[in-house]
Amino acid sequence: MHNGSILVIDDDPKIRGFLTAFLQYKGHQVTQASDAIEALELLGKVDVDLVITDLMMPKLNGLELIKKLKAVHPDIVVIVCSAFSNFEMTTNLLKAGAFFCLDKPFNLEDIEAQVNRGLEHRMLQGRNFKGRPVVKNRSRLEQIVGESEKMLSLLELVEKVAETDSTVLIQGESGTGKELVAWAIHALSKRREGNFVPVNCAAIPDDLLESELFGHTKGAFTGAVTDRIGRFEMADRGTIFLDEIGDMKSSLQVKLLRVLQSREVEPVGGMQSRKINARFIAATNQNLEQMVENKHFREDLYYRLSVVPIVIPPLRERTEDIPLLAESFIKRMNTEKKKRVQGISRDAMRALCSYSWPGNIRELENLIERLIIIKGSGTITVEDLPDKYVGRIVRNDVVSDLQLPVDGLCLNSVVEEFETRLITEALLKSGGNKKEAAQLLNLKRTTFIEKLKKRNISPEYLATAS
Ligand SMILES: Nc1ncnc2c1ncn2[C@@H]1O[C@H](COP(=O)(O)OP(=O)(O)OP(=O)(O)O)[C@@H](O)[C@H]1O
Ligand SMILES: [Mg+2]
Repeated sequence: MHNGSILVIDDDPKIRGFLTAFLQYKGHQVTQASDAIEALELLGKVDVDLVITDLMMPKLNGLELIKKLKAVHPDIVVIVCSAFSNFEMTTNLLKAGAFFCLDKPFNLEDIEAQVNRGLEHRMLQGRNFKGRPVVKNRSRLEQIVGESEKMLSLLELVEKVAETDSTVLIQGESGTGKELVAWAIHALSKRREGNFVPVNCAAIPDDLLESELFGHTKGAFTGAVTDRIGRFEMADRGTIFLDEIGDMKSSLQVKLLRVLQSREVEPVGGMQSRKINARFIAATNQNLEQMVENKHFREDLYYRLSVVPIVIPPLRERTEDIPLLAESFIKRMNTEKKKRVQGISRDAMRALCSYSWPGNIRELENLIERLIIIKGSGTITVEDLPDKYVGRIVRNDVVSDLQLPVDGLCLNSVVEEFETRLITEALLKSGGNKKEAAQLLNLKRTTFIEKLKKRNISPEYLATAS
């Protein structure tokens, strides 16, 4: 969750007070206004990320407010709460730039969920977020860090597809930056003034996903108390990002295929289909081709989606980007967390570069964030790294003549023996100096000592033996 600066607008002081107290409790900065005129005045003075407003208010109603507000502050996310919404009004509000329309009476869970989504959306837009400082004036592509050949050709491709309206399928392991790339395509395209609407197909329960995407009419199912516009329509003139598309169940795959062909959506329970003008980007960390082969994903849909396929390579295939990424995360986190970490020692960087990064860039980002918080200042060294990141410096030539015997072996005991031999050798080389020996093996001193204890090796004895 991100903490943001929120403006609450409602002519009813009870609702205002209640919302304010709740949002403050959740850690946000909250400002209040009792009508739209007062709100517009305040927006000139206070930095705001997100506005929650009533629809029916004296003087200026919510729709007019949004139009005026968006003209001056296009980045501010607006959530509208209303007891009188109908389909037409909701559509108009969303077209005017509202992020979400909530029905009154609302429950706090919905408010919290939409506020979090709104603030996340705002972060994703990367524009001057008020809740926490971000580096300003970075061009859109600059947020994607990387100078390896693989990344450079990826960035070139991103720029090219941004000029078109073609459907894009982004594939890559978890944490490789699929959402970031999708957003960059949107932000570089002529649709950038429209909404970027992400939908995580894996996170929304199957039975809700359809109405979430297509919208629904009042009474379409139990709980559908009003008409509601779907995400496809929210992305009108913008981009819809279908994340984790591999998790979409097959009945919905058929419906999505129809939308891609006809560019029309039919709300659940509705008769009339409506035209939409949205750009489609889908992403998955699964092997869709394999899923097509196994009949878990529709072949026709696969071809419709992968008009332009983009594959993001895992971090371990572009290790030359690791120093650059690490430095840029350090810079960002220092600012965010108000810390003064100077950098990473050469040895620590070497360890990071030889680690396999199953969680890719997200894992690196999280590690740096943790290190910045714990360390606070100075240089990050091998000693600061959690064990699993250390000791991965594998010299392939050391194990080159290793071969699996025809009748197999006991892996654990071979590994054990191998370790013992290298540990002994390191101690001999260092003349029994544990610190030096640990360094030779790129282990933390404490880890090294543990290993000695486990094996009952006495460095003093070895030192005299050499
Ligand atoms: N090239 C990059 N430069 C800088 N930051 C990056 C880069 N790629 C990814 N990130 C950051 O790493 C994190 C993970 O990226 P993102 O959420 O886009 O990955 P993903 O592929 O969608 O992951 P998942 O499959 O888990 O959803 C984000 O915080 C993102 O900003
Ligand atoms: Mg993602």
